[in-house]
Amino acid sequence: MTRTQTDLLVLGSGIAGLTFAIKAAGLFPDRQILVLTKTTEGESNTRYAQGGVAAVWDLQKDNFDKHIADTLDAGAGLCKKDIVRILVEEGPERVREMIGWGAHFDKEKDSNAYDLAREGGHSEHRILHFKDLTGWEMQRTLMEEADKYSNIKILEYCFALDLITQHHLGHMIIRVTPGIECYGCYALNKQNGEIEIILARATILCTGGAGQVYKSTTNPVIATGDGIAMAYRAKSRVENMEFMQFHPTSLYNPAGENPSFLVSEAVRGFGGILKTAEGAEFMQHYDPRLSLAPRDIVARAIDSEMKKRGTDCMYLDCRHLDQEAFLAHFPTIDEKCKSIGIDPMKDMIPIVPACHYTCGGVMVDEHGRTSIQRLYAAGECSSTGVHGANRLASNSLLEGLVFAHRVAHDLVGKLDAWGFQEGVPDWNAEGTTDPQEMVLITQGLKELREIMSYYVGIVRSNVRSKRALDRLFLLYQETEELYKTTTISPQLMELRNLITVAYLITRSASHRRESRGLHYTTDYPDQRPFVEHSVL
Ligand code: FAD
Ligand code: SIN
Repeated sequence: MTRTQTDLLVLGSGIAGLTFAIKAAGLFPDRQILVLTKTTEGESNTRYAQGGVAAVWDLQKDNFDKHIADTLDAGAGLCKKDIVRILVEEGPERVREMIGWGAHFDKEKDSNAYDLAREGGHSEHRILHFKDLTGWEMQRTLMEEADKYSNIKILEYCFALDLITQHHLGHMIIRVTPGIECYGCYALNKQNGEIEIILARATILCTGGAGQVYKSTTNPVIATGDGIAMAYRAKSRVENMEFMQFHPTSLYNPAGENPSFLVSEAVRGFGGILKTAEGAEFMQHYDPRLSLAPRDIVARAIDSEMKKRGTDCMYLDCRHLDQEAFLAHFPTIDEKCKSIGIDPMKDMIPIVPACHYTCGGVMVDEHGRTSIQRLYAAGECSSTGVHGANRLASNSLLEGLVFAHRVAHDLVGKLDAWGFQEGVPDWNAEGTTDPQEMVLITQGLKELREIMSYYVGIVRSNVRSKRALDRLFLLYQETEELYKTTTISPQLMELRNLITVAYLITRSASHRRESRGLHYTTDYPDQRPFVEHSVL
């Protein structure tokens, strides 16, 4: 079995992974940084981001306190205030760095000032964007910047399977065992089918979210919660997993597609209005901020209207907007709508909520340290405390930039003390054979996504959570049986990981006896007066 040693092992090449790699390459020019990514370097949630990156920019109108207040308000009492302050105050500097690395953001017509957009829950215009392709612009910039460092190596099609800890050296570990350490990971090289051991002084999880746990999601197929599941198996602390964010407006495509195409919140910020099929506005029944209320409120309103009317979608009306300006801001959305026969200037856009963002994740402190030593997490797989019970639009790219930077700086002075662990055994594939029927895995995945969508979606209840847990347990047992007897494949590992994530979401949801932010349950429709994080 191949054994590789690298000073720093980064799992994931989205905004968090590449920002960390670039920062670390600069801070530690004599250290090797290895970035694993399970498909191509450019494939990530990051590349699909549309609306933009939030940062206090126009100091005549905006200030840190306003951005902090908006973030706390969206987070429904569960954000960690000191961490939100770090995000907001350090954010603009990180965005300026991105601009220095070559990222383009749209400017106002005939002006050098950035064209700042507004999205749901923001009291000011503060979203820097590049048309409706901000994510790709940031991903491109980061890939080009990372390319400049000879001490960064990117390994594509390399799938991290499990984190290595004392457990692999034969020690008994439980979640409260003190001093658990991470020594790297086992990884499946998808190019040659071999499992490798990668040893590192420190490992940084940047594996993104888990939207694929639901039937309908804006997340690309790579978003299977691998990092969260690996960390949980390694006995790290995971928190607030019940807060899965549903974006109110994914494009309703009767043909069905995975991922669902996002119609950016920036379209509502630009003047798009949510309506019924008959063309009537309905958001006035739910929130005075109308179509620009925070996402949890808008998604629930749409869900409720759809259920009341028995319809498959609601609508976003853009027909009154300036055509030229709409096209300049949203060329990709316009093109996609037209590809399914909808002209946003003539037809209302059919929309439906879809799972979009994992607010909880691997619990970290303000430096990205997890509860396991030598293991850090940044980006969507982590839970910094910034998002609380509901993430504010466009705070995620910012979080990736700010906290990946902090992780890199936290490592200064630590690496020499963290040697390469000896005695790590080869991956144990005893008793496994090639799968006879891949359909067992694909069917398992379908069932899982159905269970989560029907029972642990936008509206929850005790009965639904119980049903979900019972069904998940059966699926878990069947999949573990497959895992013990079948040659490892990415599909099987993703199914296992998604089952773990589904369990974490459902268990946290069934423990929360209140409705808060993204977690709404008919059994406890009100918010409790005290605040509690769901730590597992
Ligand atoms: P990702 O960008 O998802 O990267 C994860 C990386 O981990 C990938 O490279 C993946 O291949 C790798 N990986 C995963 N598992 C493994 C494994 N087992 N082994 C090896 N590699 C692995 N946020 C905003 O702030 N503004 C927006 O406008 C915005 N728009 C969005 C639009 C869409 C359609 C979506 C889906 C999300 C949007 N978001 C937005 C959210 C934001 O894009 C993500 O939260 C953020 O990009 C996550 O970055 P990340 O680096 O944590 O993870
Ligand atoms: C969007 O463009 O609506 C997505 C923004 C986000 O998820 O922050």
